[in-house]
Amino acid sequence: MASIFAKKPLAVLLGEANSTGHGALKRTLGAGNLVALGVGAIIGAGLFVRTAAAAAQAAGPGITLAFILAAFGCVFAGLCYAEFAAMIPIAGSAYTYAYTTMGEFVAWVIGWALIMEYALGAATVSIAWSEYLNKLLEVFGTSVPYNLSHSPFEHAMVNGVAQHGLINLPALLVIVALSLLLVKGTQESALFNAVVVVLKVLIVIVFIAIGWQFINPANHTPYLIPADAVVKNSAGEVVRTYEGFFKHGLGGIIGGAGIVFFAFIGFDAVSTAAQEAKNPKRDMPIGILGSLAICTVLYILFGHVLTGVASWREFADPALGGEASVAYAIRAHMPGYSWLATAVTVGILLGFTSVILVMLMGQSRVFFSMAKDGLMPKAFSELHPRFNTPYKSNLMLMVFVGLFAAFVPGSLAGDLTSFGTLLAFVLVSLGVWIMRKSDPEQPRPFRAPLSAPSFPLVPIMGALVCTLLIVGLDPFTLEVALAWMLAGFVVYFLYGKRNSKLQQGIVVVPEEMEKEAFIKPDKDNW
Ligand code: ALA
Repeated sequence: MASIFAKKPLAVLLGEANSTGHGALKRTLGAGNLVALGVGAIIGAGLFVRTAAAAAQAAGPGITLAFILAAFGCVFAGLCYAEFAAMIPIAGSAYTYAYTTMGEFVAWVIGWALIMEYALGAATVSIAWSEYLNKLLEVFGTSVPYNLSHSPFEHAMVNGVAQHGLINLPALLVIVALSLLLVKGTQESALFNAVVVVLKVLIVIVFIAIGWQFINPANHTPYLIPADAVVKNSAGEVVRTYEGFFKHGLGGIIGGAGIVFFAFIGFDAVSTAAQEAKNPKRDMPIGILGSLAICTVLYILFGHVLTGVASWREFADPALGGEASVAYAIRAHMPGYSWLATAVTVGILLGFTSVILVMLMGQSRVFFSMAKDGLMPKAFSELHPRFNTPYKSNLMLMVFVGLFAAFVPGSLAGDLTSFGTLLAFVLVSLGVWIMRKSDPEQPRPFRAPLSAPSFPLVPIMGALVCTLLIVGLDPFTLEVALAWMLAGFVVYFLYGKRNSKLQQGIVVVPEEMEKEAFIKPDKDNW
């Protein structure tokens, strides 16, 4: 048996790519397309739900600074992603890149972490979807009862009555519905996506423009959360305190950055389009940095207005602005604009639906690659005889993601998503560094800038900043994440290592690769 650090030879990977035509993807995307692709994939529940959570849990109005810190981590890691993506022209993910550079075990670790990014990311957005659905139903004078729209770990005082969660049915239902849609096969229509992207950006800009007039400067003072802050609910019970380095003051900016990191997830879609860029050398940095810059500016302004219109303390109380925060802030503090709250809610519900679809699709794509390599059971790569979709994978994901959506609070699912993505980013950054040493001659259509051979600044900063954001996450999140990663090691040694095709000396047959085309997201349509 080969070592657990055995690497999939780059030549094999490139051969696979060429044999299936992946190497010959048409170069059609210009810098503008790439920026639009990035912005479309990025804006979602992170902004419309996690921003308020990060302000309430750690950063306060300093959420603006948290966005800047998180953006730095993304820029560095994003440039590393792009270097990989341009060098290995296969529709891949961090998992594929790691297999050739750091070997099977690290690839497994990334694949396992990516489950957190995509599967739990989908669960997080579905929980956010449930919050906004209730806000929409309230417009019509009804709502899903608290216990049927919250996990068993949540409780709140609503209108003076203590409420406890049981199951989050709307979140579960949206996952089931979209999974079944994926089983049947769907190509999101380009028009729908274009509309959703414009809608999302419009919501953000309109909220900033109108909300600016309703900023109450008192909400921005002090700018960082004091260490002795306490938030109480309407019954006078303490709902949150702020001890701990990453929960208040300057440390709270780091803690908040880890939480809102979620809001930037998706920009790696730009990197994976590297082989379709007309001029990767010039267009990739513009695409990545451009979409990140636009989103960062929008996010900072949005965070400034949101924490100015309503106090971060209100976002800490589940019965006030703790849920569907944007709709709450408008209704509670912007008199005369309830129509805006409703419009924003409808737009957000549509936007979230497409983010969930993309994440579920992304997860089945990672499972597909892992199953093809023998690291996951074959069922994950089996296609439906008629629909030609990875239906078993979709159905298993439906159960797995559905359980999280129904029974886990959005904050935990969201932070685990941040963790999984950050871990993948750290490993990708290190991978670029390793690859430059091990394969210096390999052509790199795009190379991360500012990287003197002796001091690869971008990979080092990518690994450092993302590690810092991991450390700043909530300790309970880190414990659960650690347990998840340990479970991954057990699965690898009991299953993956024994069944790995690379370990058995089997080279993956190119025909199998062809099937990959079906789950490759249609980037033009994102
Ligand atoms: N960045 C995406 C969102 O915020 C994942 O929903």
